[in-house]
Amino acid sequence: MSELMTHRGFRMIRGIHLPHEVDQILDLELRDSDVFVVTFPKSGTIWMQQILLLLESKGDLDSICKEDSLNGQLVPWIEVQGKVQEFVRAKSPRYNVTHLPFHLMPQALRRRTGKVIYVARNPKDVLVSFYHFHKMVHMLETPQSFEQFLDRFLRGDVMGGSWFEHIKAWFSHKDDVNMLFLTYEEMIQDLQAVVRRIAEFLGADLTQDQLSSVVEHSTFRNMRRIPRANYKHVPSDLINHEEGNFMRKGTIGDWKNHFTVAQNQRFDEVFQQEMKDFPVSFIWD
Ligand code: PPS
Repeated sequence: MSELMTHRGFRMIRGIHLPHEVDQILDLELRDSDVFVVTFPKSGTIWMQQILLLLESKGDLDSICKEDSLNGQLVPWIEVQGKVQEFVRAKSPRYNVTHLPFHLMPQALRRRTGKVIYVARNPKDVLVSFYHFHKMVHMLETPQSFEQFLDRFLRGDVMGGSWFEHIKAWFSHKDDVNMLFLTYEEMIQDLQAVVRRIAEFLGADLTQDQLSSVVEHSTFRNMRRIPRANYKHVPSDLINHEEGNFMRKGTIGDWKNHFTVAQNQRFDEVFQQEMKDFPVSFIWD
């Protein structure tokens, strides 16, 4: 039996995501200070968790490290088992991440209560990152081959469902006043500028030095050294640490090291067909 199941259009992991809890998210009461980082998996979630934590601590890495918790515990996935109850009880500001599609998110967001930061990444790099992740994480089925995983990705048979459906629904709301739409690629190209935009969007008041410190502690090179950001505390019965690092490459264009010419052509055809009415521009290499 597959580890995945579909609930109201969301492809989720049995036991990690519970249908009745996912349903509760829709009616959650929100506060103006609530922030959700929304991503399709492998698009920069942990990176944004790090940035939010650092903005909150005004760039003080020590204060977030001394908690000795994973980024995912400090800025949790709202759809993961038990988190929705924690969300209701949590103090403000409540920062959460999620891979949920637009239609399963709290309706209060449509009434402009709370904020969303959506991070999109070029889907070829998402696919490659996800492929390696499947090889590391025991609860996800190890792909038989890259080709087989590409098939699954294009069919939307991966955690999170169809990349195309996810981005299309969220992209349609990119101009909502309570939403900031970012790409992984612009974060790679000019992290300083993106961090400044996030700070402005959240109304976070940081000095220039504090902003520089946020940037410094959220670069790939520096985050890679932080065991907490690298899932190193996760026991080896859940993650095969021998397969590599969660913080794997952190670049644009690694897909070129994985796709054959034929696979690339196939992907492009599906991409052009699916995205023809959605002018999201990505940097591919
Ligand atoms: S998950 O499992 O959905 O939460 O994964 P997610 O955090 O969304 O994505 C993991 C990829 O993001 C890369 N990453 C970064 N890239 C650049 N700079 C920083 N600071 C950074 N932090 C995380 C991480 O390396 C994964 O991408 P790949 O391509 O596999 O390296």
